[in-house]
Amino acid sequence: MDKILVTGGLGFIGSHTVVELQNEGYEVVIIDDLSNSSIKVLDGITAITGKTPLFEKLDLKDKAGVETFFAKHNDVKGVIHFAASKAVGESVNEPLLYYENNINTLVYVLKELKKLPEANFIFSSSCTVYGQADELPITENAPVKKAESPYGNTKQIGEEIIVDTCKVSENLKAIALRYFNPIGAHESVNIGELPIGVPQNLVPFITQTAIGLREQLSVFGDDYPTSDGTCVRDYIHVVDLAKAHVIALKRLLENKNKANYETFNLGTGKGSSVLEVVQSFERVSGEKLNYKIVGRREGDVVSAYADTNKAKDELGWKTELTLDDAMLSAWKWEQKVRG
Ligand code: WQD
Repeated sequence: MDKILVTGGLGFIGSHTVVELQNEGYEVVIIDDLSNSSIKVLDGITAITGKTPLFEKLDLKDKAGVETFFAKHNDVKGVIHFAASKAVGESVNEPLLYYENNINTLVYVLKELKKLPEANFIFSSSCTVYGQADELPITENAPVKKAESPYGNTKQIGEEIIVDTCKVSENLKAIALRYFNPIGAHESVNIGELPIGVPQNLVPFITQTAIGLREQLSVFGDDYPTSDGTCVRDYIHVVDLAKAHVIALKRLLENKNKANYETFNLGTGKGSSVLEVVQSFERVSGEKLNYKIVGRREGDVVSAYADTNKAKDELGWKTELTLDDAMLSAWKWEQKVRG
């Protein structure tokens, strides 16, 4: 079966995607620099699939290292590129770290990939490219707006780099997957989200509060024009998201793509407010969550949720797991890791 490179494959979405690739019989080689992940995730993947992926510790900013890797693994048939820094707030304070780590690495990987006979590339993008969309649900034709953060800008620039490269490459085919809000953990409780330090994202903050690691959840604003005043997002179970990556990769491997560059929104199509997420957590865990309403967070959009028609019609993919499924899996994972 084809060999697939997964960069950032020990990360949250990367590790869940490696599991689904192995379940489909692909041979997987992971590159990860372990800057925001743990080598123990390899054991978690093995515990689920019974197969340990090939692993190379490599910082993709090491151009020569990337060249050496591709010379050694010139039988790679596709790349799923997760490796990037992804903390919105951190990117505002450290823009050059984000431009160097998220852009240079993409260029080095593409330069080597396009030398291979087959060059199939799946890019981890984000709904953040839409900013506050004018129309909801958000389709892939929604205009890309000025990024609210250097992190979001690196996703926009990344997509443009891929578009320009596909235009002049004989063999490069690419799909950008624009995720909404990935949450949850594998049902086996062998892999899940491992935020380092104080979580920026809502769901890990909820589970860490419930387990006693954090004092209290701050809900950033309840004066937005939404059903209950709190922001609305499209929370997608990470396993549904991982499965979409395998389907998108197959589309390229089997030459079923309709253009050399395509984009797909990956979400449930349903918006949930912050308080609805809290209520979901309380329902599935039986725990009462300690939270308080505070002021708005800079840069938050009011509402974002996906139009899922293109992914359904073109990829034949839609989410199967619910918000409650995701919150329960996140809670079980938190209890295992911290309990
Ligand atoms: C969700 C909602 C917050 C924390 C970002 C990136 C996106 C992706 C996911 C990387 C918002 C509220 C949060 C808290 C809160 N990242 N919240 N208290 O900002 O929608 O998306 O993370 O790929 O690209 O843009 O996710 O989980 O930070 O926030 O009230 O302690 O929860 O205000 O309304 P976000 P989030």
